[in-house]
Amino acid sequence: MTEEYEPTILAFCCNWCSYAGADLAGASKIQYPPNVIIVRAMCTGMIHPNIVMDALTNGADGVLVCGCHPGDCHYLEGNLIAEKRAEAIELMLEDFGLEPERFRLEWVSASEGKKFARIAKEMTDELRELGPSPYRT
Ligand code: FES
Repeated sequence: MTEEYEPTILAFCCNWCSYAGADLAGASKIQYPPNVIIVRAMCTGMIHPNIVMDALTNGADGVLVCGCHPGDCHYLEGNLIAEKRAEAIELMLEDFGLEPERFRLEWVSASEGKKFARIAKEMTDELRELGPSPYRT
């Protein structure tokens, strides 16, 4: 892999838990790679598989969806819907010829800044290793 390649990761974070968790990482000066671009969503249940696939076929090397832990979703079942959709996304990745590492669903609470930073770093490292998305222009 050439040294210039740096993955771009879109991280959809739910407003109530994970966005606050990512914010806590920043406020606590817990470093995570700048490769991760945070998109604030009200709930992971809003992230339709088409949004993930659109991102992965239009410039993102990876997509991370972060939401409240099971039982903590502010819309009750949004994260359970996201979990079901993740299964569909995994199948779609295969159909699109994309590696499973390019998508990740994680639960991050408002107090888990360190966890968010760890996930962001892990995913960036994995995607650096994997190389750019074949859909990258
Ligand atoms: Fe956080 Fe639904 S509000 S996952």
